[in-house]
Amino acid sequence: MEARRVEHQMTEKGYVPVYTTAVVEQPWGAYTATDHRVWESLFLRQREILKGRACREFIDAQDAMGMGANQIPKFDELNAVLRETTGWELIGVEGLLPELTFFEHLAARRFPVTWWIRRPDQLDYIAEPDLFHDLFGHVPLLMNPVFADYMAAYGRGGVKAHGCGPEALAALTRLYWYTVEFGLIDTPEGLRIYGAGIVSSKGESIHCLESAAPNRIGFDLERIMRTRYRIDTFQKSYFVIDSFDQLFEATRPDFRPLYARLAGQATIPAGEVWASDRVFQRGSGEGWLADGDV
Ligand code: PHE
Ligand code: CO
Repeated sequence: MEARRVEHQMTEKGYVPVYTTAVVEQPWGAYTATDHRVWESLFLRQREILKGRACREFIDAQDAMGMGANQIPKFDELNAVLRETTGWELIGVEGLLPELTFFEHLAARRFPVTWWIRRPDQLDYIAEPDLFHDLFGHVPLLMNPVFADYMAAYGRGGVKAHGCGPEALAALTRLYWYTVEFGLIDTPEGLRIYGAGIVSSKGESIHCLESAAPNRIGFDLERIMRTRYRIDTFQKSYFVIDSFDQLFEATRPDFRPLYARLAGQATIPAGEVWASDRVFQRGSGEGWLADGDV
């Protein structure tokens, strides 16, 4: 079997990948030595960079589920641990899924993982999610009971929002972007990364915490749902949660009244900061402080 099978098609949007919605068995035996080496290089590189940068829950979960460097993990083996821990399971897919299909999987505690891995010349950047992003980035936190429940609730919310129109879906997608993909968390040791889009990227793992350029803003559901985002560069703003409990509790209410209110409001550019934002700044020494902290 060929190790990479992303077909493209010319459409009004240009040359875009064509995906099937099929669930595929992970073709583990078809991974080449190069595929395994790509996994190993990325795994070792990110684990080094994530020391003191990723949240403890992420690193501990990766270890607990036995995700290691030496070979591409087998979905079956990870599933044995995941099912036991939080009831989640991984399913293999070709790539991005249509929104509703994706939501339905999450609601049923199935996390779609792209089965193929990037080429050696794509270690630093790849435009679409691959196995490294999905598995290394997303899967560990599915071991965390609260985050696991948040992801399933998100899936149910997505199915519901699907009937509420494109603006509701756009708002929900921004929430995913600024939490699941690019979220930061405030800990006693300082800000830490939990977003999958960050932990799977060398450059962004450093940029999101060390660079003076981006804003780091306290979690605010409605603010996030109005904030546009960039898919082609590092983020201009990151949103900081205090805990996974905060994230879960803040998103528990029925969003339908919120969608109705948002429909009348303008979106917010990615880099904008408001006077009402709780902005985190680097204090003297190592620490991070938010305005309002004493
Ligand atoms: N409470 C949300 C709703 O009613 C569902 C949801 C939960 C959405 C968590 C996103 C994240 O739609
Ligand atoms: Co992702």
